[in-house]
Amino acid sequence: MDIQQLKDTISHLKKEKNAYILAHNYQLPEIQDVADYVADSLGMAKHALSIQNDLIVVCGVYFMAETVSILNPDKRIIIPDTNAGCPLANFAPVEEVRRWRKQYPDYTFVAYVNSSAEVKAEVDICCTSANAIDIVRRVPNNKIVFLPDKNLGRYVQKHVPEKEIVLWPGFCVVHETADLEAILRTKEAHPRALTMAHPECPEEIQEIADGICSTGQMMDFVAKHPETREFIIVTEWGMVYALQKKFPDRLFLEPSHRMECKNMKRITLQKLHDALVEEKFIVKVADDIREKARQSIDKMLA
Ligand code: 13P
Ligand code: SF4
Repeated sequence: MDIQQLKDTISHLKKEKNAYILAHNYQLPEIQDVADYVADSLGMAKHALSIQNDLIVVCGVYFMAETVSILNPDKRIIIPDTNAGCPLANFAPVEEVRRWRKQYPDYTFVAYVNSSAEVKAEVDICCTSANAIDIVRRVPNNKIVFLPDKNLGRYVQKHVPEKEIVLWPGFCVVHETADLEAILRTKEAHPRALTMAHPECPEEIQEIADGICSTGQMMDFVAKHPETREFIIVTEWGMVYALQKKFPDRLFLEPSHRMECKNMKRITLQKLHDALVEEKFIVKVADDIREKARQSIDKMLA
């Protein structure tokens, strides 16, 4: 089947099975096109609570499907490729988190949602890149362990200087490769452009950005700058498609090399099609872990 035939079949299957397709902003353009809802991690988690359909296909990385499953334990949650993991989440194995908890007994543990369900069950509260500053600020304790992303943690520390934040040494392999020289060259060639960078980018990239935004916040940033015609995007390229689709009259520029999350791009139309036909691969979190992880997610949402 070609792309159009696959898209048509998927939309037919979706109706027939009463399925809902929830996708992240980094998904392939054709996946974003067939999805019912495309958002950042926080948007996906919040939206998951209002979905009525019994079958939800999560087009994103594994922890996103786990989060949807934790929030919807009575629904069937599927992911088209179980190998679509998040290398950042792998930086924090649960045994290591337990070891740190013993080492820092009087600290509040804040976990970025890019972490496994087991880790979410082990910490005090979750956050996403869209609400990390807010969450850390509101936690009553002044001593925080932030995991697993050191760049996001450092960004939070700058905005919440009154707290002591211990950073877990993890990072996103995609954002870590953001090319400072290429961004500076693009800025020089487009002096009126505003630069948006994801907070998973290293500090030197954040320093030259006009906006440090979660992928969802990038949408808001463009909407808040109606006079600006050009934006330099320092994040995974699926976001460039999402922005261009929403704002067709603006220009979104990628600094020379394309930032690609290979795991996000594992989800293809063919795999989505097969997932709908066979209702695979089911994502289910064991009850004891789910209940504890849910508390960390609920605290964040509250
Ligand atoms: P957002 O929550 O900003 O969409 O980020 C998720 C992610 O995986 C970034 O690499
Ligand atoms: Fe994980 Fe980075 Fe891919 Fe986001 S871009 S899913 S943090 S590896």
